[in-house]
Amino acid sequence: MAENQETSKGDILIVDDIPENLELLFQILTEQNYEVRRVLNGKQALKIAELDSPDLILLDIKMPEMDGYEVCQRLKNNPKTQHIPVIFLSALSETFDKIKAFQIGGVDYITKPFHIPEVLARVKNQLQLIKTKKRLEERNEMLISINQKLELQKQELEIVNQELEAFNHRVCHDIRNELAIITGFSQILRENGYTPNNQKSNEALDYIISSSRLIEQIIKDLSRLTYINSQQLNLENVDLTSLAHHIISTLNQKQIDRDAPLRDRVIDWKITPNLSVYGDPNLLYIALDNLLSNAYKYTAKSENVSIEFGTIDNINVGDNQQIFYVKDNGAGFDMEKVDTIFTPFVRLHSSADFEGTGIGLATVQKIIHLHGGKIWCEGEINKGAIFYFQLPRMKS
Ligand SMILES: Nc1ncnc2c1ncn2[C@@H]1O[C@H](COP(=O)(O)OP(=O)(O)OP(=O)(O)O)[C@@H](O)[C@H]1O
Ligand SMILES: [Mg+2]
Repeated sequence: MAENQETSKGDILIVDDIPENLELLFQILTEQNYEVRRVLNGKQALKIAELDSPDLILLDIKMPEMDGYEVCQRLKNNPKTQHIPVIFLSALSETFDKIKAFQIGGVDYITKPFHIPEVLARVKNQLQLIKTKKRLEERNEMLISINQKLELQKQELEIVNQELEAFNHRVCHDIRNELAIITGFSQILRENGYTPNNQKSNEALDYIISSSRLIEQIIKDLSRLTYINSQQLNLENVDLTSLAHHIISTLNQKQIDRDAPLRDRVIDWKITPNLSVYGDPNLLYIALDNLLSNAYKYTAKSENVSIEFGTIDNINVGDNQQIFYVKDNGAGFDMEKVDTIFTPFVRLHSSADFEGTGIGLATVQKIIHLHGGKIWCEGEINKGAIFYFQLPRMKS
């Protein structure tokens, strides 16, 4: 009784045209807690095997209509059943072609009349093999998935490493350079004395001030990136169109506030209405601000400037995301260098042409990645640039 309550040790299908044989095997195997199904011919066996695969099939060779060889052959030809191991049952009196039995995919055979311990040993052996194989497959799958995760972590670490190297360079190299300028010109001032309105004195002071500002800017950039790295996302529906309009009015205001604007800028802003996503409003503001500010900055020397912010809604992207873009017809960039464009402190234009520290796009990429999205871009020198980014759709 207690034994019968044990969980099944395996699900076995017996195929034999002689009911007494079926009955005998059924008895032996159910007593040992196997789950057993019985059929009297090959046709039924094929049907059951396809609908609800057993773990093991005990298959009689000599049956009317379809013999065991043919049943086995058909099982092995069907992708749904080819994995099921088949043990042939053959009477000692029958001619049994063992080679053929193994060639068509049989894994073992049992001879009739049945010697019970032998039947049990062969059945147990096969089921044990299946279990081991399954365990190995599962372990293999687990290893593959661990490997994939490690690969992703490796990629993330490579990005972090790149950032650290860039920081290192920025801090050690650039800040040191600027400090050397400050020290050098301060010394000149001390040695020569400061004379108000003297050209040399003023030049020295200008250098000191601009180097100090640059250091200040570098530290600001670094702390902004660190801030984003440590941010928890506060997710909600975010109206990107409103953010864009706010950013544009700030950009226009900056233009008016400038001490000596180079020229009034006329820009044809094309902002698609009602663009929304599910994300962190503060971080998305920073991202969109960087993209629109870049479009604004790198069109400063172009004519008939047009800057667009829109969506490509007719493409289905995974994870319920939507693609947006910021497009301009400004200075553009060399597509051969596109691989480095999101690396912190890398710039594709000189400071003489366009000011900047090269941290904006690294920040944008970080924010988009934090949202599970992607960012990429295309550009052509003197034709313009387009930055695409993919973010989670607004929730209803
Ligand atoms: N819209 C654009 N058109 C052309 N080039 C661009 C555009 N946006 C970015 N780039 C190129 O990519 C580089 C990196 O951009 P990123 O915004 O990171 O830095 P930046 O604009 O130079 O400085 P900042 O950190 O002040 O934003 C830029 O130096 C520029 O060469
Ligand atoms: Mg920028």
